[in-house]
Amino acid sequence: MEHKSLLIHGGTVVSDSSTSQVDLIVQSGRIIAQGSPGSFDKEHFTEEIDASGMFVLPGLIDPHVHYDSPFMGSKTVHDFRTGSIAAAYGGITTIISFSTQGKGESIIKNIESQNRNAEKQSFIDWGFHGIILDAKEDTLSEIPHLINAGYPTYKCFTTYRHSDRMVDDADILSLLEITARNPAMLMVHCENDAILEHNLKRVLSTKNAWINHAKSRPASAENVEIARIIDLMREEVAPVYIVHTTTREGMGIIQDAINMGLPIHCETCTHYLVLTEDKLKEEDGYQFICSPPLRKKEDNDALWKAAINGPLEVVSTDDAGVPTLDRIRLGEGKFDKVPNGMPGIEPRLVVLYSQGVVIGRINLPRLVALTSTNPAKLFGLYPQKGHLGIGADADIVLFDPNPRWRISASTHHMNTDFSPFEGMEVTGNVRSVLCRGEYVIREGELVGTPGYGQLIRRSIDDTWLKRS
Ligand code: URP
Ligand code: ZN
Ligand code: ZN
Repeated sequence: MEHKSLLIHGGTVVSDSSTSQVDLIVQSGRIIAQGSPGSFDKEHFTEEIDASGMFVLPGLIDPHVHYDSPFMGSKTVHDFRTGSIAAAYGGITTIISFSTQGKGESIIKNIESQNRNAEKQSFIDWGFHGIILDAKEDTLSEIPHLINAGYPTYKCFTTYRHSDRMVDDADILSLLEITARNPAMLMVHCENDAILEHNLKRVLSTKNAWINHAKSRPASAENVEIARIIDLMREEVAPVYIVHTTTREGMGIIQDAINMGLPIHCETCTHYLVLTEDKLKEEDGYQFICSPPLRKKEDNDALWKAAINGPLEVVSTDDAGVPTLDRIRLGEGKFDKVPNGMPGIEPRLVVLYSQGVVIGRINLPRLVALTSTNPAKLFGLYPQKGHLGIGADADIVLFDPNPRWRISASTHHMNTDFSPFEGMEVTGNVRSVLCRGEYVIREGELVGTPGYGQLIRRSIDDTWLKRS
């Protein structure tokens, strides 16, 4: 029987360190060979892709999405079907979604139940992080099983006391201790709950004053909590990943900790690089309520700098859109009642390409590092994913750098009538996407199938996490 084999030729292949003219051969879902342009005879392959004029990128990985997730009386707009379609249109071939532990319940139990949905629905590969609500004995004793089952990263919150999600310092120390003893990484949402609650009393209530969301959650609330986690890490040295960092000062605090040799890592999200809190001053400001809040232009600038030189290693999306009607209904004009979170899975690549590469803030290899190779390494997907070397999964994006167009909720594929980037002019478009060698998007058309995606059981490689 003839093996299906694919030649991708004529494109510019991008890695986290270089761009090069390379032809690729795909067989049985993997990259099996690379060669200089024209070095393979087309007749030997059952299929070919002419990638002339295209960038050939390793499939993007988004390690921070909330699919199928109840929150503040609502539910996120994306499940694994709609979310994986939107992700694929954004060049993403693997997502890692959060699964929230039920209070007093098993973390794995909830992951398994979400997994059953993902198995039926997902067009692309996926993994899970647990969300830990407490560090009681049952939870701590479950963590090694979680890690062995392929879920070696889990997140806790230093806020959201109102919805019973906050962990205290003692919990964090226990979580750091167990993380230090295992091949794992603790993810932390850093905002100081006391500052937020204190401010809330002062700025609440003026109806439709969405900007008060940002005023009540100042940069200092995030900075103080990042610094505190670092202090706790000095007691129990374990890998930590600070999610959705947003502040200029936060970048300095994290860089200092890295310089001290602490195994701390961090991400920001697309919206924190290109949007400011001014969005909260608009009439539909409730749509831009996310936590931490959007910040100021000087923070955007500092984050871009940190995306070039560190300490930022990843740009994720924190895709957690909530239906517009729920934001209006549950919010009742009050910023603190609006379920937090924005959609953003699909526009991540074009926004970062346009605002990062085209403008000259980052180069193309850095874009690949921030969106594919680094998340693969940090979250235990490398070398299976995150690059286009021999042996890697053939997760491939054909990106056309030429079209100029405007982002609009009326044309995107996300399951929502809202785009945070509405009207933004962008350059470049995802033409085709392959996941493990099979088309999910072909020339702009969805051709994949729900249920094709696979759960990727991850295992952390300390090589990428340690600092000294
Ligand atoms: O506002 C946000 N970020 N919503 C999603 C939940 C979280 O904190 O990541
Ligand atoms: Zn968070
Ligand atoms: Zn999140």
